[in-house]
Amino acid sequence: MQLETVSIIEHRDYGAGYRLLRLAAPQIAPQVRPGQFVHVRIPRLEASVLRRPFSVFKAENGELTLLYKSVGHGTSVLAVAAPGEIVSLIGPLGNGFPLDLPADRTPVLVAGGYGMAALYLLARRLPQKGVVFAGGRSTQDVLCVEDFEALGWKVHIATQDGSRGVRGLVTGPFDAWLAEHRTNLAPEFFACGPNAMLQEIGARAIAGGWRAWLSVDRHMGCGVGACLTCVVKLQDTDGTWFWARSCKEGPVFEARQIRWNGEDDEA
Ligand SMILES: Cc1cc2nc3c(=O)[nH]c(=O)nc-3n(C[C@H](O)[C@H](O)[C@H](O)COP(=O)(O)OP(=O)(O)OC[C@H]3O[C@@H](n4cnc5c(N)ncnc54)[C@H](O)[C@@H]3O)c2cc1C
Ligand code: FES
Repeated sequence: MQLETVSIIEHRDYGAGYRLLRLAAPQIAPQVRPGQFVHVRIPRLEASVLRRPFSVFKAENGELTLLYKSVGHGTSVLAVAAPGEIVSLIGPLGNGFPLDLPADRTPVLVAGGYGMAALYLLARRLPQKGVVFAGGRSTQDVLCVEDFEALGWKVHIATQDGSRGVRGLVTGPFDAWLAEHRTNLAPEFFACGPNAMLQEIGARAIAGGWRAWLSVDRHMGCGVGACLTCVVKLQDTDGTWFWARSCKEGPVFEARQIRWNGEDDEA
């Protein structure tokens, strides 16, 4: 983990309401593993104490690329930052996805919204090619399809309004694929997106005896393990539960570790 002051090389529309931010980050970029994130101080928003977390879309040649959507105050100020402006980053943060899959495993990636950005770096770094399931409300929520296809990955799309791919939730084509391949392939799941989606993918992995690596989305304060804003409830194999910080111990956890319905437990 490092604090680095970097400059913006490129900042442009990526389509679908997203913006692509390319940064010269020679210290952080070589250290990034898929699923890790950087904590960004928004330029010209110095009054705001809090940085904003973003997954790393690409990390190569001393550069970092982020893919983000303007959803609120911080990201709308970030959206107007120009090439040449200086940005303060802390990173890489978090534990990322495992890359040491047994050779017989087929990686199955499942993403909603900006989850595609987080999973793209994983697809680039995994030794074996696999299949991607991308879901969203509408066609503009489906990102990076051509990027995955250019790597030789097969992409299945589902949108709730039917504007692209199959109409409905991403679990529709995911379940169909699983039914077809469960006896001839050994899948390993990697997912990033809304918690409801993560929960569904995790449940299928547990039922089938497979592993699912889920990147949970929690609001973050410090990003470095000090403030406890980002805690998530985990459980041991004997069922005892404990809090973990998604910025430090996560954001990636194996499905069996997460206690989704732990709200009823006494804290
Ligand atoms: C580990 C991690 C990786 C992320 N990677 C990306 C990425 O690659 N691309 C991207 O576009 N976004 C990503 N996000 C989400 C991004 O951090 C938030 O969209 C951003 O912080 C919002 O800042 P803001 O000031 O514009 O929004 P605010 O004004 O603070 O909030 C605007 C709205 O966004 C919601 N919001 C804020 N933070 C989050 C969050 N973490 N999850 C869901 N809703 C949130 C708020 O509840 C509110 O409704 C990531 C979040 C985490 C935790
Ligand atoms: S964001 Fe502060 S402990 Fe995780």
